[in-house]
Amino acid sequence: MKKRKIRAVVTGAGGFIGHHLVKFLKKKDYWVRGVDIKYPEFEKTAADEFLLLDLRFKRNALKATKNVDQVYNLASNMGGIGFIDSVKARLMNDNILIDTSMLEASRQNKVNRFFYPSSALVYPDFKEPEKNLRLKESYAYPALPDSEYGWEKLFAERLCADYYEDYGLETRVARFHNIYGPLGAYEGGREKSPAAICRKIALARDGDEIEVWGDGKQMRSYCYIDDCLQGIYRLTHSEIHQPVNIGSDHPVSINEFIDIVSEIAGKSIKKRYDLSKPQGVRSRNSDNTLVRKLLKWEPKIPLKIGIKKNYDWIKNEIDKKKKKKNL
Ligand SMILES: NC(=O)c1ccc[n+]([C@@H]2O[C@H](COP(=O)([O-])OP(=O)(O)OC[C@H]3O[C@@H](n4cnc5c(N)ncnc54)[C@H](O)[C@@H]3O)[C@@H](O)[C@H]2O)c1
Repeated sequence: MKKRKIRAVVTGAGGFIGHHLVKFLKKKDYWVRGVDIKYPEFEKTAADEFLLLDLRFKRNALKATKNVDQVYNLASNMGGIGFIDSVKARLMNDNILIDTSMLEASRQNKVNRFFYPSSALVYPDFKEPEKNLRLKESYAYPALPDSEYGWEKLFAERLCADYYEDYGLETRVARFHNIYGPLGAYEGGREKSPAAICRKIALARDGDEIEVWGDGKQMRSYCYIDDCLQGIYRLTHSEIHQPVNIGSDHPVSINEFIDIVSEIAGKSIKKRYDLSKPQGVRSRNSDNTLVRKLLKWEPKIPLKIGIKKNYDWIKNEIDKKKKKKNL
C-alpha cells in the first residue's frame, strides 16, 4: 500500500525562510500548502497548492490549517532594524493577530505539530555586555527586549506554551539568530544587515565608501539558511517543548563582516559610520549548549562560504536588473 504523505502548511511561503522551507519539505516528500499575502518574488513556489490569504483573520487561518498534519507559521510582518523600529504599532498589531489566529485555528483543526519562529530579539538588551557574551535560552527572563518586535515574539512564545499546556497542541519554538542566504529581500527597506551589506558592496566600485549604521563594532552571529532548515525540521520532529536557539555561535563585528564581503567581491571598500542610524544592541550571539545537547544540531556552513553564496546571488540579481534597464 502507498504510504500517505505528511501534509504541511507553510505560512509566509512567499517570504525568505518560508519559500526555502517549502522546497526543503518537498524534497522530504511532503504534500505542502504554501500561504502568504504574496507569491515568492525571485522564483516559482514548489508548493503543491499556494493560497493567497491574509492570516490576520481567523477565517483565513482556518482555511490555511485545514486537513494538514503540521503547521510551520513563518508569516510575519517584519524586516531589518530600520523597518521594525519605524512601524511599531502596525507590526505588533499584525503579528499578534497572525499568531493568535494561527494557533487557535491549528487547535480547532487538530494539527499534530505547530512550529513557531521566535527571535534572538527576545533577549534583554545587555547595555554593557561582557566580552564574547553568548545568549543562553534562560537569559530571556527577566524580560527586557529592546524592540516591540522582541516583545511580540515573547508574547507568541508564551502563547505557544499556553496552547500546549491547556489544549495539548504540540508547539515547538525556535529562536532564530540572523538567518541569511539567497532569495531573501536585499533592497526596499525590509532587508537585514547581511543582505544590505552585500548589496552596498555589489553596487560599489573598487575604492568606494559605503555607509555603515553605527560604529561597526556591534557583534552579531549569522546562520546560513540551509542550517536553519535542518534545525526547524529536527525541532518540529523532536519532543522539545522549550524554546531553543537556532543560530550560529561564531561572533563577528559588522566591520569584520564588511571586510569579509569586500574580500569576496575583490573590492577595497572604505567605511563611513552614521551614528544617527538604528544599530541595535551592542552584542548578540547564540549560545548553542542547550540545542546541541537536546537536538544534536549545530550549524555546519562556514560564514565565508555562506556569505559567498549570498553575495553572488545578490550581485547576479543586481546585474540582471541593470541589463533589463539597458535593453
Ligand atoms: N530572517 C531572520 O533572520 C529571522 C530572525 C528571527 C526570526 N525570524 C522569523 O522567521 C519568520 C520568517 O522570516 P523571513 O525572514 O522569512 O521573513 P519574510 O519577511 O521574508 O517572510 C515573511 C512572510 O510573511 C508574509 N506575511 C506578512 N503578513 C502576512 C499576513 N497578514 N498574512 C499572510 N502572510 C503574511 C509576508 O508577505 C512575507 O512573505 C518570521 O516570523 C520572522 O519574524 C526571522
